[in-house]
Amino acid sequence: MRAAVLRNLGDETLEVVDDIELVELGPTDVKVQIKCTGVCHSDLHGMKGDLPQGAPFVPGHEGAGVVTEIGSAVTGVAVGDHVVVAWSPPCGKCVACVDQKSPHLCVMIQFAVAAIPRFVQGGSPVWGFAGTGTFAEEVILPQEAAIVIDKDVPFEIASLIGCGVTTGVGAAINTAKVEPGSTCVVFGCGGVGMSVIQGCQIAGAAAIVAVDLNADKQELAKRFGATHACSPDGLAAVQAEVCGMAGGFDYAFEAIGLPQTVRAAYDAARRGGTAVVVGVGNAAATVELNMFELFFQERTLKGSYYGSADVRSDFHRLLRLWKAGKLDLEGMISARIGLDDVNEAIDKMIKGEVIRSVITL
Ligand code: APR
Ligand code: ZN
Ligand code: ZN
Repeated sequence: MRAAVLRNLGDETLEVVDDIELVELGPTDVKVQIKCTGVCHSDLHGMKGDLPQGAPFVPGHEGAGVVTEIGSAVTGVAVGDHVVVAWSPPCGKCVACVDQKSPHLCVMIQFAVAAIPRFVQGGSPVWGFAGTGTFAEEVILPQEAAIVIDKDVPFEIASLIGCGVTTGVGAAINTAKVEPGSTCVVFGCGGVGMSVIQGCQIAGAAAIVAVDLNADKQELAKRFGATHACSPDGLAAVQAEVCGMAGGFDYAFEAIGLPQTVRAAYDAARRGGTAVVVGVGNAAATVELNMFELFFQERTLKGSYYGSADVRSDFHRLLRLWKAGKLDLEGMISARIGLDDVNEAIDKMIKGEVIRSVITL
């Protein structure tokens, strides 16, 4: 079958090949024919080695498709079901899932699956990004990673739910728990940042300031609910206007993955406010905070992993919001492409030109 493969970590382009095979279907696995998959910045983080990843590997983790085969012990997923791929599904039994009630922090399945190659090429193992690898016509997934959805949801819409939308909207409504009337700023207006903006709007924020280097993105952000938009340089003036005496925002979100924008998000939060780090950074990159500000500002600096979402219920919640016209997913698709155009899509993402490119397989 066809797939896009990154040969070595650090390579800049993917090879589109047609001789990839799947590993054997285990008793608790399902085989999914991928119909659509979004190109997310985390794929690039995997290619660069910012995220731990075995190579060669098939990138892609934001996908949706149809179940074509199930293992002998699979329950709850049937052949013909339409599914969204969850790249970190909860096991439902561990300390994170049960005691801490944080199913998004469950690593039992993700770590186990990521350690096993998903594909074979010429007899050699090929890994799947984050244990998935949706830049392929078919994938083998643990049954928990296939979240069954209604058949009337278009696959391109469903694919976005698998990562960027859940990550972004979830950061606002689950991680930060933005309240009605609050003031928010979002650094980075890619697929994830635009989803954060929509999440803040759904939560009833009174002001949502979008910050991006790209002027086109600033304009687009207003379509997704931003009340103001500016470049990083222009933020001080907008912040003074929006926040007034409060001095800073109730909630500041970083959806880029750079130390300087994490620092800027921390600085943009008001005293007692919350800065949420959604962007993925390299383990070697650090952010400096001084001792005085840590205590005096009384800010909360919080990570957000997979939108602090429970994929079993939140995927459906987000689709209900989309069906109700409260979440614009069509508008997030900047380009509809084939697998052969994947390198061009990654290039456009690096240049900040697209919200999401969606590959149809
Ligand atoms: N200041 C402001 N905006 C910036 C800067 C900067 N220094 N650098 C990049 N941007 C903007 C780009 O112009 C682009 O619009 O940030 C946006 C990033 O969007 P994408 O590359 O599409 O990334 P996305 O898929 O949205 O992911 C964002 O969230 O989940 C993580 O791994 C993901 O770290 C990534 C982040
Ligand atoms: Zn668990
Ligand atoms: Zn992603």
